[in-house]
Amino acid sequence: EDETKMVKRPPVVCVMGHVDHGKTSLLDAIRHTNVIDREAGGITQHIGAYVVEANGEKVTFLDTPGHEAFTAMRMRGASSTDIAILVVAADDGVMPQTVEAINHAKAAGIEIIVAINKIDKPSANIDRVKQELAEYELIPEDWGGSTIFVPVSAHTKEGIKDLLEMILLTAEVMELKANPDRAARGLVIEAELDKGKGSVATVLVQKGTLHVGDAIAAGSAHGKVRAMMDDKGRRVKEAGPSQPVEILGLNDVPNAGEVFVGCDTEKEARSFAETFISQNKVKLLDDTKAKMSLDDLF
Ligand code: GTP
Ligand code: NA
Ligand code: MG
Repeated sequence: EDETKMVKRPPVVCVMGHVDHGKTSLLDAIRHTNVIDREAGGITQHIGAYVVEANGEKVTFLDTPGHEAFTAMRMRGASSTDIAILVVAADDGVMPQTVEAINHAKAAGIEIIVAINKIDKPSANIDRVKQELAEYELIPEDWGGSTIFVPVSAHTKEGIKDLLEMILLTAEVMELKANPDRAARGLVIEAELDKGKGSVATVLVQKGTLHVGDAIAAGSAHGKVRAMMDDKGRRVKEAGPSQPVEILGLNDVPNAGEVFVGCDTEKEARSFAETFISQNKVKLLDDTKAKMSLDDLF
């Protein structure tokens, strides 16, 4: 990697935690939106990717499901991000998927910021949550530890600004950089077959810049980027590091978690996809492994 071409990139932040502890509600509060009202049964069943601007800085958020059935999604969420926001409801405390999220974040080696949510509830007990999390080596700074805890309420919006500030501060210390001036590379966040549009893939660009018209291979799928939409559904011509975009133009539906690469020609993209299949490296769960097998291929 050419060090001189590395420039600052936005942090990618994964919101994790037990079902119904308020992950989507928190993101709604941050984004001034209402995603939760459109979810079936109020249950998140896919990874949502959103870009938020705070204090002039961009942050990419991945919302993950808390329902126990979606372990693989949570694992992917953690492995493609820089920071995890661990959401714990102040009335409910540490629950099974809270522990699972802690383990995923630790395995991925990413920073954990704890958001104690629902502090507006009469039954909220912030100290109890702190005690429970201390058992997992997440010790707040005011108890002599080094984990950032932010008490918040997605309903009253209390603490939301503090949470954003802590994310920006943590990201700043990490000095996250990427080279935008190279072929794009990143991960498929999710993908589906749409009757009208064909294969629709949401990808997270990690390095380089992806343009409309670029040849691309995504796992076993390949093609040419026909159109791109940002997280607000706006058509865009290019997407740089840390940016999530929906792309059209792949010949098939890639699996979530697979790597995508921008290629010079469609022929190269096809051969990349074929090599990918033949080497049976279709399931790539984390960036480290992704990097390894990309290096193996080239
Ligand atoms: P999954 O994605 O299904 O795991 O749930 P989630 O963690 O995204 O939680 P969600 O945002 O769906 O919220 C679950 C419930 O908690 C909803 O009824 C919310 O209205 C409620 N809730 C979320 N945040 C708060 C809060 O700060 N205070 C109160 N009182 N209720 C909240
Ligand atoms: Na929910
Ligand atoms: Mg949710």
